[in-house]
Amino acid sequence: MITKAPRGTHDVLPSDVYKWNYIENIAKSVAEKYGFKEMRTPVFEHTELFERGIGETTDVVEKEMYTFEDKGKRSITLKPEGTASVVRTFIEHKLYADSQPTKLFYITPVFRYEKPQAGRYREHHQFGVEVFGASNPSIDAEVINLAMTIYQSLGIKQLELRINNIGCPICREAYHKELKNYLSEKVNNLCTTCLSRYDRNPMRIIDCKVDKCQEQLTEVPLMIDHICDECHDHFNELKKYLEALEINYTVDPKIVRGLDYYTKTAFEIITEEAGKKGTLCGGGRYDKLVEDCGGPKTPGVGFGMGLERALLSLENQQIDIPKPKNTDAFIVTMGESASLVGFKLLKMMRDQSIKADQNHVTRSVKAQFKYADKLSATYTIVIGDEEVNNNVVLLKNMLTGEQEQVSYDDVVNILKERLIEGE
Ligand code: HAM
Repeated sequence: MITKAPRGTHDVLPSDVYKWNYIENIAKSVAEKYGFKEMRTPVFEHTELFERGIGETTDVVEKEMYTFEDKGKRSITLKPEGTASVVRTFIEHKLYADSQPTKLFYITPVFRYEKPQAGRYREHHQFGVEVFGASNPSIDAEVINLAMTIYQSLGIKQLELRINNIGCPICREAYHKELKNYLSEKVNNLCTTCLSRYDRNPMRIIDCKVDKCQEQLTEVPLMIDHICDECHDHFNELKKYLEALEINYTVDPKIVRGLDYYTKTAFEIITEEAGKKGTLCGGGRYDKLVEDCGGPKTPGVGFGMGLERALLSLENQQIDIPKPKNTDAFIVTMGESASLVGFKLLKMMRDQSIKADQNHVTRSVKAQFKYADKLSATYTIVIGDEEVNNNVVLLKNMLTGEQEQVSYDDVVNILKERLIEGE
């Protein structure tokens, strides 16, 4: 079906693209205020990067990656998330050699072969940030604060921040033993996916959405109760920093996150109306990832926010997204010489940053005015043979209906003044 987009993908039509620009511009400008710098990475990477980075036993790597062999017989994968690529860049370009921390942000398409539903797509877009080289909990709080501030700047309400500490490789090993011990008697009641998780990635069972699995977890030991002193102190410090900024949070010991690289802090931001299904943003600390991907020992922390979900929240909460003005002036012409004169005027206006357009198809004057209306043009400039001969144009304010004859040589300046004054 060449006339239908692939399942789970969506087009952004010209009538909607301003909404995306609005969200992206706000996210970018807030991130820049926080000292983050933008970066871009390729849409695809070597498959191994994600297998190593995200974890071979995660749903993302096991079931959801768009992986293919390229013509050079390399295994290539479309980015299933943004962090691993940024880590690869950090290592490849030796960004660790600069003064740390390195504070980066990006906007990227993300590809996951998931069952499409509202807010869940096979191609979605994320605004993400990653900070490298800082292990202080204040930077975790800074990253969380940045995410919250972006949502607040967008006007999204009823935000709920949930935090957890999911330990480090030291305390997690002992916890895994305890968890497996608890689950050992219940393992036959788990869904088939969790059955396979039991040996390979038991912590993910806690996050399973299947009812019969949740029923087995009523008294499940939780990581937060088994974290080592260092993780414990980190968590307490993080809470202090959040409290200093008066950011409300709840500790949710069941947050485990779907990607394996997290250590210590894990967090999610949801809106009450969407609930857990509509997680707006997820992130956390990953102090081993750079090393696991072949770089020097470097702590990291970041988040990814789904842009489609941000947009859904704006729409659900009926938040107005300001529509940019398309056309300041539309030139209505009658006859060939008027069209030529208008064409020159068009360039002069655009050179002065006036958003201008002209008729380019066969249309009556009436139809040209109708079209100008459709473009929501603030002014129309009418040019016929008489105007050409007298070096004048007819300037009409489309909002008030006022019409006046002005000199061709003055019209650009007149418009410029009025449009700037009218802003
Ligand atoms: P994630 O939780 O997998 O984390 O995704 C981040 C956000 O992307 C989610 O909270 C959600 O808003 C959105 N999202 C995820 N999957 C979909 C989907 N199928 N359709 C629509 N939106 C979706 C990461 O990807 C990590 N890389 C975040 C991170 C950065 N952690 C540290 N640094």
